Amino acid sequence: MHSLFTTAALLAPLVAAQIQGHCDPADAVQPNPIGKMNKYKNYKTTGTVNGTVAILPIKLTAARGIIPAQYPILEEQYRAWLPSLAADEYPALLQMEQNHDLYHNGVAAGPSADFNRASISFPFVDRLNDGYSSFLYNQAVIISSAATDTIAQFQTYGGIVAPGFTASCNAYEYENGTANLALPPAQRGIDQAAWANTNTDLSNPSIAYRFDPTASSPYSTDFWRNVTNQPLFSSASNGKCDAVTRLPATKVSKGAFAGVHLEGEVAILKAFYPVKGKTVWSDVFGYKVDQAYFEKPQAKCATLKGFSVVEAPA
Ligand SMILES: *[C@@H]1O[C@H](CO)[C@@H](O)[C@H](O)[C@H]1NC(C)=O
Ligand SMILES: *[C@@H]1O[C@H](CO)[C@@H](O)[C@H](O)[C@H]1NC(C)=O
Ligand SMILES: *[C@@H]1O[C@H](CO)[C@@H](O)[C@H](O)[C@H]1NC(C)=O
Repeated sequence: MHSLFTTAALLAPLVAAQIQGHCDPADAVQPNPIGKMNKYKNYKTTGTVNGTVAILPIKLTAARGIIPAQYPILEEQYRAWLPSLAADEYPALLQMEQNHDLYHNGVAAGPSADFNRASISFPFVDRLNDGYSSFLYNQAVIISSAATDTIAQFQTYGGIVAPGFTASCNAYEYENGTANLALPPAQRGIDQAAWANTNTDLSNPSIAYRFDPTASSPYSTDFWRNVTNQPLFSSASNGKCDAVTRLPATKVSKGAFAGVHLEGEVAILKAFYPVKGKTVWSDVFGYKVDQAYFEKPQAKCATLKGFSVVEAPA
């Protein structure tokens, strides 16, 4: 990986976020609505995933430099979803989410299995070289350090997990926060941050963001469903993939909990966007929502051929 981020001093005043790798069920977080359903008992894992996703428009050439060279990028697919994206751009996916109330084959795993996770990944990758099956390439991730099972699982895909991350239980804690991280005045445009690595060693990676609700977004909820449901792979040669299906319409995603479109700014430290140059983005659009999900971990990538949840509008 290239070293990057000439403005590494940006994170100099990093302070420890709340020290808590796991979440307290006493928080006003809704339970997994499908955990006990017979229909899902054959799945290794179900849960809820609550948090923020956003698109970072990056240069297509930069994406090409990060995604393993043997796998084409399905440019026609993402252009069908995002006709307004510039001709030389590609949509990288930022995820900052909390997984809650996990069940394994219908048995509750308890609060200690909850975890927070943040990453930049690269959707619309032709992992099977078949010209149409879209996968999400995600090499590096931040996961709550206490979630050792989840970390071990991610590592079986060949992924890299940043050490020393602790997070609070509030999936949106820093959205409008003011107290956690004060950035230098030279870096205005990003006032607050989230998912700070508790380790103040600048060799450790971080992702920082600030979002506010917006009435108009260039991205549809169907688009968010599409990118967040593409099966994940983490290394070029590893044959294992992770297939997560998010359900958009259970009670954790409705009424008071309906999804919200967001607009904001994002800064990324090294390892998560391994390209020199622009690592601070403004005018980023995102979406926050809680969703129930079911997961097939450790799936053979080849068995996920044609895995599809929602297709781009014709
Ligand atoms: C998602 O997380 C936020 C922040 O912790 C919480 O307020 C909200 O209730 C959660 N959503 C659900 C459906 O539990
Ligand atoms: C952040 O601020 C916006 C606008 O003031 C508000 O609608 C939203 O609910 C706030 N979010 C949180 C998590 O407090
Ligand atoms: C995403 O959209 C593309 C383009 O329509 C489609 O081919 C693909 O199957 C979709 N993937 C998922 C996971 O919905």
